[in-house]
Amino acid sequence: MKVRQFKLGPMDNFSYLVWDEDTLDAAVIDPAWQPEPLAQALKAEKLKLRAVLLTHAHPDHVNAVGFFTALDKDLPVHLHEADHHMLENQPKTLKPAVDGEKIEAGALKLQVLHTPGHTPGSVCYRAGQAVFTGDTLFIGECGRVDLPGSSAEALYDSFVKLAALPDAAAVYPGHSYNGDTSTFGVQKEYNLYLKLAKQGRKADFLKAVS
Ligand SMILES: [Fe+2]
Repeated sequence: MKVRQFKLGPMDNFSYLVWDEDTLDAAVIDPAWQPEPLAQALKAEKLKLRAVLLTHAHPDHVNAVGFFTALDKDLPVHLHEADHHMLENQPKTLKPAVDGEKIEAGALKLQVLHTPGHTPGSVCYRAGQAVFTGDTLFIGECGRVDLPGSSAEALYDSFVKLAALPDAAAVYPGHSYNGDTSTFGVQKEYNLYLKLAKQGRKADFLKAVS
């Protein structure tokens, strides 16, 4: 499996291309701002785009979905149902991302981890040892919980869930804040929020995010 990270747009968003090297089946995660570099990479690597996966519905993560659904009207777009109402210009092929289930993008399989907090329908996607954390977990930081639909309590439970992931798993966040990538092992040690969640210190976590 291969992962390519694209830093795009005025808010240092990350879009990702992930693919199976044997079959060249590919998925795009959070296409936003400038779809052209993603499209160029799909072409250069001769990839077959099988699905679009959204970590949540905020516009800075989804505003280039239409570019890909216009190229393929059957292209499935996955988003947790709790965020569907927030998605503008909903594609006809909008599908849920269900906690614990594996989304099959051809031979490529990505597991859904529902991690509400930043938004009610925020999810992380795991493919092998790569975890795409959207605006839930950043390098050394956590997602904002002062937005409509946000919940600090829900984010704590989500961080408890993330703290159980293997140390070797890679963190691929939704923005380039403090860094571009890391491992869960490093983040469990240096990310205050993940550290507090791992230690079960809910009150301290809620204080830290407020
Ligand atoms: Fe967001």
